[in-house]
Amino acid sequence: MTPRTRTLVTGATGTLGNALRPRLLEAGHDVRAASRSPPSADDNDVEWVELDVLDGTGLEEALADVDVVIHAASAPRGDSEAVDVHGTERLLEAADDADVENVVYVSIVGVDEVPLSYYEHKRRAERAVEDSSVPSTVVRATQFHSFVFELLETVARVPVWALPTQFRIQPIDVGEAADAILEYATREPSGRVPDVGGPDVRTVRELAAAYRDATGVRRPIVRLPVPGSTAAAFRSGTATCPDRTVGTTSWEEWLGGRLESAAER
Ligand SMILES: NC(=O)c1ccc[n+]([C@@H]2O[C@H](COP(=O)([O-])OP(=O)(O)OC[C@H]3O[C@@H](n4cnc5c(N)ncnc54)[C@H](OP(=O)(O)O)[C@@H]3O)[C@@H](O)[C@H]2O)c1
Repeated sequence: MTPRTRTLVTGATGTLGNALRPRLLEAGHDVRAASRSPPSADDNDVEWVELDVLDGTGLEEALADVDVVIHAASAPRGDSEAVDVHGTERLLEAADDADVENVVYVSIVGVDEVPLSYYEHKRRAERAVEDSSVPSTVVRATQFHSFVFELLETVARVPVWALPTQFRIQPIDVGEAADAILEYATREPSGRVPDVGGPDVRTVRELAAAYRDATGVRRPIVRLPVPGSTAAAFRSGTATCPDRTVGTTSWEEWLGGRLESAAER
């Protein structure tokens, strides 16, 4: 009988981590979930551990007896150089010492082409993974629907929505992204694997208009001119992978479900 795979998820409290935990359990993994502040309540299914990749707190304990790591810890709104670059380097060193068989690194489509500092840090983290002696897999996904939703929620109350309407993105349901990432959570490293994208490439104008229709908030959407190479990259669709439409849930379908469950609460 093949022994169960023991899998550590970093960033286990995050958007992706929350989607990965139940799927890993369902797939028969022994799941260790890491957070800087693990929940104190008992969780009979998942073993929670404390981990801070910034200073290495809990790294050795988190990696003990682990076969596979899904590294989803990240600081998109914080010090991503410290967390994503140096934290990943620290994790890799410890994973090497612990003889981990596969570190699955979750990255973002376009990190090598969009000159955004968070993306540059993700690319440096990818390189650290690729150059490490630890066997690894690098999987890039497009933006999650929930990420787009959160951004639109921040403008929703403003009387006029000034948005970079021509930006092109390809959002995906996080559960569908997690399903795709789960395929690589095996003892066999796969190297750089095909991108994971949502069903459609959409402009921000289209996404915002669908949000406006679904929420019934009547606001004009106007184009916010954004100069520079980062904006140009988003306009030209650099952060999309139209040949890799892995997800099937459209933005409108996801939005409908999200608003319905909010109304039931
Ligand atoms: N969001 C998207 O649209 C998207 C799209 C494609 C790819 N990705 C990638 O997918 C991964 C997960 O994204 P996400 O949206 O799930 O991120 P998220 O919701 O922001 O969660 C990030 C997680 O990182 C943990 N974390 C932050 N600093 C840490 C530290 N110093 N040490 C240990 N853990 C730390 C946080 O856990 P605690 O606070 O509990 O410690 C949190 O659970 C990221 O690498 C991201 O680049 C995201």
